[in-house]
Amino acid sequence: MQLTVNGHQYEVHGEVGTTLAEALREELSLTGTKIACGEGHCGACTVLVDDEPVLSCITLVHAVDGARVTTIEGLRDHPMIDAFVRSDALQCGFCTPGQIVSAVALVESEPAPTTEQIRHAMAGNLCRCGAYPKIEEAIRTWQG
Ligand code: FES
Ligand code: FES
Repeated sequence: MQLTVNGHQYEVHGEVGTTLAEALREELSLTGTKIACGEGHCGACTVLVDDEPVLSCITLVHAVDGARVTTIEGLRDHPMIDAFVRSDALQCGFCTPGQIVSAVALVESEPAPTTEQIRHAMAGNLCRCGAYPKIEEAIRTWQG
């Protein structure tokens, strides 16, 4: 099957039952996408599929054949990365790729989100380190 990931076309051969997260990490070596719970509860594995945030640990790669996928590696030049650094919006960093992907999806549709909009959009991204206040600050101030 064909996937366009971060602007590059790939032929992916995942066995039936392979998740998008597994295909990205194991077949394409895009290990920026993290798998934490593996059950759709934490948001660590969030990627964009056709610009919408998706939990890649519970998405079968065959279900997104032909789609355009954006992972954290494809966002390396996005100002949201600098905003997270400026705001010191991480501790262990394990949840951070998913947080940034969800934050980018939010600001692409709402560039100046309210705190309520931020909390709503980010509700599916858990952070065991409790960096939530700084994550919110990063998203509020991402435009510098
Ligand atoms: S690893 Fe996918 S939601 Fe937790
Ligand atoms: S920074 Fe550690 S889980 Fe979020």
